[in-house]
Order: sequence, then structure tokens, then C-alpha cells
Amino acid sequence: MSISYLNGDYMPLEEARISPLDRGFLFGDGIYEVIPYYGGKSVGLMPHIERMINGLAAIEIKSTKTADEWKTLLDDLVARNSDLGDNLGVYVHVSRGTDVKRYHAYPENVEPTIFAFCFKIKDPEPVDRTQVSQYSLISTEDLRWQRCHIKSTALLGNVIHFQEGYSSGNDEALLYNAKGDLTEGSSCNVFIVKDGVIATPIQDNQILPGITRRIIIDSIKADGSLKLEERNITLEEARNADEIWITSSSKEIAPVTKLDGQPVGDGKVGEIWEQAFRIYTASKFDF
Ligand code: PDD
Repeated sequence: MSISYLNGDYMPLEEARISPLDRGFLFGDGIYEVIPYYGGKSVGLMPHIERMINGLAAIEIKSTKTADEWKTLLDDLVARNSDLGDNLGVYVHVSRGTDVKRYHAYPENVEPTIFAFCFKIKDPEPVDRTQVSQYSLISTEDLRWQRCHIKSTALLGNVIHFQEGYSSGNDEALLYNAKGDLTEGSSCNVFIVKDGVIATPIQDNQILPGITRRIIIDSIKADGSLKLEERNITLEEARNADEIWITSSSKEIAPVTKLDGQPVGDGKVGEIWEQAFRIYTASKFDF
């Protein structure tokens, strides 16, 4: 049974209740995180918490907990859910809270709603090009808003793009802006490899500052054996890339072997993916 946390209380997930006047429900007015734990060990817990605190500040929701208090709450929730499995994701969500009326302006004197629950996630993929799951993408113009760096619970733009990928028989949608530059996936960041050099779009308001993206960049730089650039990347470059990867807390580094029905590179998982995934796997618990 999944035990959830809601505003200071623990209860079975299916018994958790919020008001329909909660601004998260009415306006998508909130911030969320998804944090992976493997064998009880978190990946990027503090960076996830910092991103959540920054997101709350960006939309002026008062953060009622310190980073250490968040850490205790989330580690404790994972411990309470150990019977769900070895590998768990934690979803944590803070909305602006419940008002007495539906009114767009930020209400005063409203306490944020804090909700968290755990769910089972897949075992990590093998660090083996011949065994790992492969992904297929379609490309589509990024029609979301100008604040994609905020991890908002208002995900309709992402959901519509994800569905475009899903309903066309693909795993994800690769998004590009009006200039033809890649931004990210509908629920992940993106990397390409050309002639042995890894590249990923620069961090700005068009993409989420992915924690997996950060861990990959930092661990690859620390290792020093691979070349990595943060720069603008055109969709055309992605079409001609040797490798494409999509990255997120639930997918880690997932190799893409098909884009818009065409093979990526030679259509097989690349060598650089294997080297990068080995480096990431060796250091992911250090973040
Ligand atoms: N998605 N970009 C978008 C739009 C995302 O929704 C996500 C994560 C990422 C990757 O971020 P991170 O590496 O911090 O997980 C990039 C989560 C997992 C989700 O919504 O379920």
C-alpha cells in the first residue's frame, strides 16, 4: 500500500483528499518534483529540493520548510513505503493552497498545500548498448510558454506534446522553437552526439534545468574523457546526429534510435552513450 503525505499527515494514497478550491486544482498554481531512489539511495535529492525552493520563490509561494526539513520529509516517506519495492520515485507537490473563492490574484494568508507520494520505478537499465531499451521520437514545434525553467504543475502544454508523440506510436516528442533550435522533450532534456562530441541546449527559460542533465554534465566534465558542449542545436543537426539521448529522473540517460521514423546514426545505440552512462552510473549517488 502506498502511504502518502498531505499537509502534515500520513495516509493511504487513495484516501488523500484536497478541496476543489485548491489553486493547484483550479489553476495549476504550484510547483512539483520527481526524485528517484534506488535501493533507498536518492539521486540528486538536494539539487531537486533547491530547484523546488527556487520555483516556489519564482512564483511567490512561501516555502514553509527548509531544505533539510524537505530532505527529512522525503527520506522518511521513502522509508515508510519500502514495501512498494527497492526502486521508488517520490512525487512532491506544493500548491499555493485553498482559497474561499476562485479569483486569479494570489490570495493572502493561505497556507500552501503539500502533497507527496511514492511510486515504483523501473530498475536502472544495463550499461550495455546491446541490452538497453531504445526510444523513438517525433519532432514538433514547442508551443509551450516562456517560463519552461519553472517546474510548474501546469503541465497541459507538455501533456499535449507528449500525447503527440504517444498517439503517433513514439515514446516522446522532441521540441524545437520558432528558430528551429532544439529546446527539450515534453518530459525530458535532450543531448546529441556528433563526431564524438556531446552537445545539449543551453540552460535558459525555454528548458527545465533538469537534475539528470546537470549530473551528466558535471560527471562527464569531472571524468574528463569525453567532450561536452552546451550550445544551440538545430533540428537539422539532430537529424544528422550520430546519437541522440533523452534524460530525466525516471529515464536516466535513454538512447534514441529513431527520429521521425528515420534511424538516428546507424540506427543502433551509440558507443558514446555507453561511455556516458557508465560515468553517470558510477557517480549518480554523489549528487
Ligand atoms: N520530468 N524537461 C521536462 C519538461 C521535464 O518534465 C523533465 C522531468 C525534465 C528532466 O528533469 P529531471 O532530470 O530533473 O527529471 C526535463 C519529470 C520526471 C516528470 O514530469 O515526471
